[in-house]
Amino acid sequence: MKYLEGENLRDYTTFKIGGPIKFLVKVQDKSELFEALDKAEQEKWPLLILGSGSNILASDQGFSGLVIKNEIKGLEIISENDSEVIIRAQSGEIWSKLVKFTVDRNFYGLENTFHIPGTVGAAPIQNIGAYGTELKDCLVSLKAINLKTKEEKEFSASDCELAYRDSIFKNELKGQYFILSLDLRLKKNGNLNLNYPDIQRVLTERKITEPSLSDLIEIIREIRDEKLPNPGVLPSAGSFFKNPIISSELLSKLQDKFSDLRYFVNGDEIKIPAGWMIEKCGFKDRDFGSVGVHKKQALILVNYGGAKQSDVLALAQKIKEEVKDRFNISLEEEVNII
Ligand code: EPU
Repeated sequence: MKYLEGENLRDYTTFKIGGPIKFLVKVQDKSELFEALDKAEQEKWPLLILGSGSNILASDQGFSGLVIKNEIKGLEIISENDSEVIIRAQSGEIWSKLVKFTVDRNFYGLENTFHIPGTVGAAPIQNIGAYGTELKDCLVSLKAINLKTKEEKEFSASDCELAYRDSIFKNELKGQYFILSLDLRLKKNGNLNLNYPDIQRVLTERKITEPSLSDLIEIIREIRDEKLPNPGVLPSAGSFFKNPIISSELLSKLQDKFSDLRYFVNGDEIKIPAGWMIEKCGFKDRDFGSVGVHKKQALILVNYGGAKQSDVLALAQKIKEEVKDRFNISLEEEVNII
């Protein structure tokens, strides 16, 4: 295995921001991972685990330790019965490749998460989700390696404490585990979740009444491509903030003030789209030097080229202050700031 020197975090993140890395190693299986962990222990190098870097705003100081880039691949069906199947996905796989694998076999459950950038291993860290589906809906368990003790541990879905863009791996266990693989339960004869307004709109426009799984993932790809910047063209880390969850009291106050208020209700959670508030504060499609707010989706901050972490953080701060002033809501970052 090669311990690469002179690499930069900006080349390993979709935001294209981040400074020099002391050493970087790419691991393709468990034994390479253990070799890298042993080396880091001997050399006393701090560790940073990277997938495809699609949800990271990295420091311009870089990382003076060992970055382990996860390239452990593999997708397999480990058990099935008449109605369900369990898929084991290795953590270095690209998430959308996993979704395509399931859709090609007519398994239901992950389709609405198609085209979310990132790897399988990153998915549980922030409980990825889109169009009314979250990883939480399908995850059975995961295997992970403790970076200090090198012991393998199985976490049940409930051990992971998955919540909206959150998990135990973003909190108590932050930076402590390398996620190895996920076991996911999918249905053989499921129902599609077509409730989301953007999906409804496209189905109506195209007069499609009974979409197949493959129709749906194509529609989702188009919706995402239409709204979200292509990181290869305009670097970003996807949604920069979470959609805040608010109380019903605050909702009724805001409804009195804003007749066009947008909100979603899911069980007893009320979410206000942060993108709508940011747009209301006049930030959409504005640039602030090398950083800006995307023209089609105000929840996404973009790097026009050469942006530093501090430029993004300064814009984020400005947005948070305006939103707080206008809506009395504190936005929280969704991206992982390192
Ligand atoms: N909206 C605006 N202006 C904007 C952006 C959004 O008014 O500039 C309004 C829309 O009109 C819509 C509502 O806000 O009524 C929701 O917008 P959208 O459907 O684009 O989704 P979102 O709530 O902004 C969330 C996720 C996305 C996910 C989409 C689709 C978070 C933080 N973001 O965005 O996830 O793709 O829903 O389900 O929950 C990500 O996590 O990186 C990500 C892209």
